[in-house]
Amino acid sequence: MQLVTTIEELKNAMAQIHAAGGSVGFVPTMGALHEGHLSLLKRSRNENKFSVCSIFVNPTQFNNQEDLVKYPRTLEADLQLIENYVDVVFAPSAEEVYREPATEQYDFGDLEKVMEGPSRPGHFNGVGIIVRRLLDWVQPDRAYFGEKDFQQIAIVKSLVHQCHIQSEIVPCPIVREPSGLALSSRNKRLSEDERAKAANIYRILRESTELNTTRVEDIQAFVAKEIAKVDILKLEYYAIVDGETLQPIRDLRDADSVVGCIAVYAGEVRLIDNIRYK
Ligand code: PAJ
Repeated sequence: MQLVTTIEELKNAMAQIHAAGGSVGFVPTMGALHEGHLSLLKRSRNENKFSVCSIFVNPTQFNNQEDLVKYPRTLEADLQLIENYVDVVFAPSAEEVYREPATEQYDFGDLEKVMEGPSRPGHFNGVGIIVRRLLDWVQPDRAYFGEKDFQQIAIVKSLVHQCHIQSEIVPCPIVREPSGLALSSRNKRLSEDERAKAANIYRILRESTELNTTRVEDIQAFVAKEIAKVDILKLEYYAIVDGETLQPIRDLRDADSVVGCIAVYAGEVRLIDNIRYK
């Protein structure tokens, strides 16, 4: 495993890899790595000759300064966890990545007008900026993204389409704790009590798929009521959307692919998760 921290070093490492031939898989991350990230890296290793991982807490995608400051940073442990799974790790500083100022403006249309879009102004533009730059530098055949960030995958697919990027975007399933809680770097900020109670999120989502109704309003009301029963949880939104367009629907029969996406505060920590209805 080769660790590089500058764009020039990354480009040199990639030039050697591309010259050697064989496919390249890429997993972009913000570090504080866990089994969810590792599942992406394992998949990349299985499907490609070479795998590249980036570890960079990207300031331009944080709309909340406190969230950025408190985001866990565990580079040493991260490198140990992934050493057998990647050929190149890119762990740059913010100065390095933003030597070229972050002035790019992307338009993701209706995809960014729902859920995380209005809740986190500027977030998806920041994701677009960093993902495009990383894909430009790495030039992977495939890039792997987790379905935990369901909306992010749609945004990245739109980015790749708009910018005529050749990489294939590969969505990967959510990895959960035995309790059902979706693994997340932000879970490291939960107290033991908050972590135990946060497991209710997935329990409630699962129960909501077994209700005897197809009316979205009823399902949303059930989720809101159940979340409110858990003292430390505070619901920000629960949206049930067309899994392709991400636009809200009124009845589960209104789309072929239907996903429920939730944002919840567990104490001070903002968590997201989702579940498929169809
Ligand atoms: P980060 O939150 O570190 O996540 C990196 C990748 O791991 C994302 O594709 C995310 O969906 C995936 N992931 C996180 N938790 C997961 C889980 N429990 N199961 C499966 N996959 C999981 O997402 C980002 O970073 C950033 O926005 C990034 C794309 C790196 C751009 O800065």
